[in-house]
Amino acid sequence: CGIVGYIGTANAKELLLRGLEKLEYRGYDSAGIAVRNEEEIKVFKAKGRIAELRKASESEFDGNVGIGHTRWATHGVPNYENAHPHQSTSGRFTLVHNGVIENYEQLKKEFLSNITFKSDTDTEVIVELIEYFSNEGLTTEDAFNKVLSLLHGSYALGLLDEQDSEKIYVAKNKSPLLVGIGDGFNVIASDAIAMLAVTDTYKELVDNEIVIVKRDEVIIKDQDGQVVERDSYKAEIDASDVEKGTYDHYMLKEIHEQPGVMRNIIQNYQDDNGELKIDKAIIDDVAKADRIYIVACGTSYHAGLVGKEFIEKWAGVPTEVHVASEFVYNMPLLSEKPLFIFISQSGETADSRAVLVEAKRLGHKSLTITNVPGSTLSREADHTLILHAGPEIAVASTKAYTAQIAVLAILSQVVATAHGKDTGVDIIPELGKVTTAITAIVDDAPKMEQIAKDFLETTRNAFFIGRTMDYYVGLEGALKLKEISYIQAEGFAGGELKHGTIALIEEGTPIIALATQEKVNLSIRGNVKEVVARGANPCIISMEGLEHDNDTYVIPVVHEMLSPLVSVVTLQLISYYAALHRGCDVDKPRNLAKSVTVE
Ligand code: G6P
Repeated sequence: CGIVGYIGTANAKELLLRGLEKLEYRGYDSAGIAVRNEEEIKVFKAKGRIAELRKASESEFDGNVGIGHTRWATHGVPNYENAHPHQSTSGRFTLVHNGVIENYEQLKKEFLSNITFKSDTDTEVIVELIEYFSNEGLTTEDAFNKVLSLLHGSYALGLLDEQDSEKIYVAKNKSPLLVGIGDGFNVIASDAIAMLAVTDTYKELVDNEIVIVKRDEVIIKDQDGQVVERDSYKAEIDASDVEKGTYDHYMLKEIHEQPGVMRNIIQNYQDDNGELKIDKAIIDDVAKADRIYIVACGTSYHAGLVGKEFIEKWAGVPTEVHVASEFVYNMPLLSEKPLFIFISQSGETADSRAVLVEAKRLGHKSLTITNVPGSTLSREADHTLILHAGPEIAVASTKAYTAQIAVLAILSQVVATAHGKDTGVDIIPELGKVTTAITAIVDDAPKMEQIAKDFLETTRNAFFIGRTMDYYVGLEGALKLKEISYIQAEGFAGGELKHGTIALIEEGTPIIALATQEKVNLSIRGNVKEVVARGANPCIISMEGLEHDNDTYVIPVVHEMLSPLVSVVTLQLISYYAALHRGCDVDKPRNLAKSVTVE
């Protein structure tokens, strides 16, 4: 979910709506705003996208203060009642919340047995509790504090009190929230991009602080009520980075940005002498580790699989890759000197953070590879490597995946050097070749569109196969396709299909086979023959320089280990066009959110 808030002298409604539009990537099944003027607070809510909320909030009423929320449902179905903001019974308190309160049922029983709840949300319990303690005689600040001390779980909260038009009360625990500083106004936002149009100056908030945001003052207090001074920082994002520009969709724009992202990475990870540049403390910690545990979710997990190959084959450090949500409940036997690498585009994914908290508790070192400087995972890990990919807005991740792989490749090379190993790979020129190859593929977008039409326009399902590095890319290709086109797609190791899944092959079933690895070129082609013999419709994506024969698309030659950076771009584009031609909402696929801040 995403939160915004404004307190100033301008009309708040439009600012809140625009802010929420920028946060839609965090969830978009329902949304709402609360706007206040001197006399009253009015709430507007709608099921569906911000566009629906816009319609629902068409009215003369406006004010200079407000809070807003876009939701990714956790407690309760997406409908009007469950949309935020939520109000207490008397209407005095109005609240937006991102996160999950684990003990809300208990709190409800203990304090609120007389209340008739309007929604199924944990949030309504919080706002009723604030009213409960306020009725007991506490000031709003004290009631807010008291309630925070009772909550177990994650939250970012923005609270309005009808009896005080001068303040927004704010607090966070585990969920992200920033305060933006303006001239005569201040804002709150889950992500700086929401409010970039009005300010680029932000203050980070720390868990368990309580913050009082006024028009011309932001008061941050720690748990003991002591005022904390906090410097602000400039968000290094350009407002135009978060616009679609001439592209029809953010996803298409982000796919096309990949050559630029590669160039940014090359620039940022090189010193003036052309030497690879990574903080010595990071190299030392990686070099000291006897085993690396890569922890991530979704697309970032797939990048981790590719990264494992670099770290093992180039740097020579044993590496495991784990899905965060499993790792946290089923931790493998750890080595003596483990190092944790968290890969996360957003740096906010709650599943990954849960593992980081546990790793820290056990006293282990950690490195976060993320696109968002200052994100939770970045702040809480010992070290950070930044992706330099620019804001990624489309829910389906593209440029962050290739950036993650490129940064992991550079890191592995640097660690190899620290270990005195010569990998025989000159990574900067190799990444240069990758950049050229990606450019050639995005220029070939019409061909990818044709492939999408030929293979995926009407199908119910699709299979991606590959061996070694290509297998990992197949997993990512399948994820991309199912996320945005709703075609049931699965990635398999080429040799594994025959051990069961081949039963699903029917006349015309699309099989997308990746063949970019010399060692397995013949065997993957053998696997293709097996499925073609059973009626499959094969789409073979291979690489120049290897033996091929009438393949559907041949990518330019790059270093074999780096081929995922290039072959994946074909799959991104094919998925994009498949979804487009099937009439799907490419940037905002159903049921998903880009940044999932609940476990
Ligand atoms: C969500 C998104 C995925 C993403 C995953 C991990 O599920 O829909 O696209 O790969 O989270 O996100 P992260 O920000 O940690 O890379």
